[in-house]
Amino acid sequence: ALITLRQLLDHAAEENYALPAFNVNNLEYVQAVMRAADATDSPVILQASRGARAYAGDGFLRHLILGAAEEYPHIPVCLHLDHGDQPSTCISAITNGFTSVMMDGSLLADGKTISTYDYNVSVTAEVVKIAHAAGVSVEGELGCLGNLETGAGEKEDGHGFEGKLSREELLTDPEQAFDFVEKTGVDALAVAIGTSHGAYKFSRAPDGEILSIDTIAKIHARLPNTHLVMHGSSSVPQDLQDLFTTYGGEMKQTWGVPVAEIQKAIPLGVRKVNIDTDLRLAMTGTIRKNFAEKPDNFDPRNYLKPATARMVEVCKERFEAFGTAGQA
Ligand code: G3H
Ligand code: 13P
Ligand code: NA
Ligand code: ZN
Repeated sequence: ALITLRQLLDHAAEENYALPAFNVNNLEYVQAVMRAADATDSPVILQASRGARAYAGDGFLRHLILGAAEEYPHIPVCLHLDHGDQPSTCISAITNGFTSVMMDGSLLADGKTISTYDYNVSVTAEVVKIAHAAGVSVEGELGCLGNLETGAGEKEDGHGFEGKLSREELLTDPEQAFDFVEKTGVDALAVAIGTSHGAYKFSRAPDGEILSIDTIAKIHARLPNTHLVMHGSSSVPQDLQDLFTTYGGEMKQTWGVPVAEIQKAIPLGVRKVNIDTDLRLAMTGTIRKNFAEKPDNFDPRNYLKPATARMVEVCKERFEAFGTAGQA
């Protein structure tokens, strides 16, 4: 059986670790996360975006995740909706067996207009009321993810606000966070602390602190019992960029969030760390390599197997780095 996000994050807080939350879209992603969890004895958050639901179909997704729970009965698994854009999206996820939903009211349902604080409180509180009645957890989001260096929004990646944001707008306000959690009753809160979605997070190698650790510390001081969530937390490691570009992939040099920065945030209440881009790169880079090296192959299993294995490596590294390993 699947368990809720609340159950997983409460345990993570007690034992002071974080869980990576991996975005999944198909069988190979689910197998990769579960194999890595099994090898490291880690509890699991599998999350599906609206895009993943549209790509795979809710019935396929639900049964993939139930299949994972059946194959690995000793591993706790949560099925979480990533970036629900409006209450109806969260409700349909609950109906389809998700044990946790994110209501991202930081943007309007158009996905690109920054919402008012009151709108965010209202849609999130509405989802909490319904979800909690159904025994489902809720993650909310306060603040605008975007690039602290440039102030750029995220539209390049198809997500988020398209325009310039001030440093103020790019960091979650600790006092407002306190008010938000009190008014909505969310189980977990995604905060803006300098991360952004997609591969292009930082344009040069980070020297020193690149996230606003100070902001996390202030939020945690104000909300010591609230589970914090970091979005946009792929590390975009050089070896995965190289794997992708060596075999014809086009990507300009970029830098992600170093694992060491995430590790600083864990004692400050960060319990869920969202990762999508790293698995995309692992899968696509490996497939590119296999297409280049074995042009005569046309059996998909011959390239999906190593692609899955490369994703397993990434997942294992994160489970180990975040202290999730050994906690299942
Ligand atoms: O934050 C979004 C996740 O990376 C999911 O991306 O909507 O393209 O599936 P997606
Ligand atoms: P990345 O693009 O850094 O993998 O972030 C994923 C994410 O935050 C999903 O919600
Ligand atoms: Na946001
Ligand atoms: Zn996200």
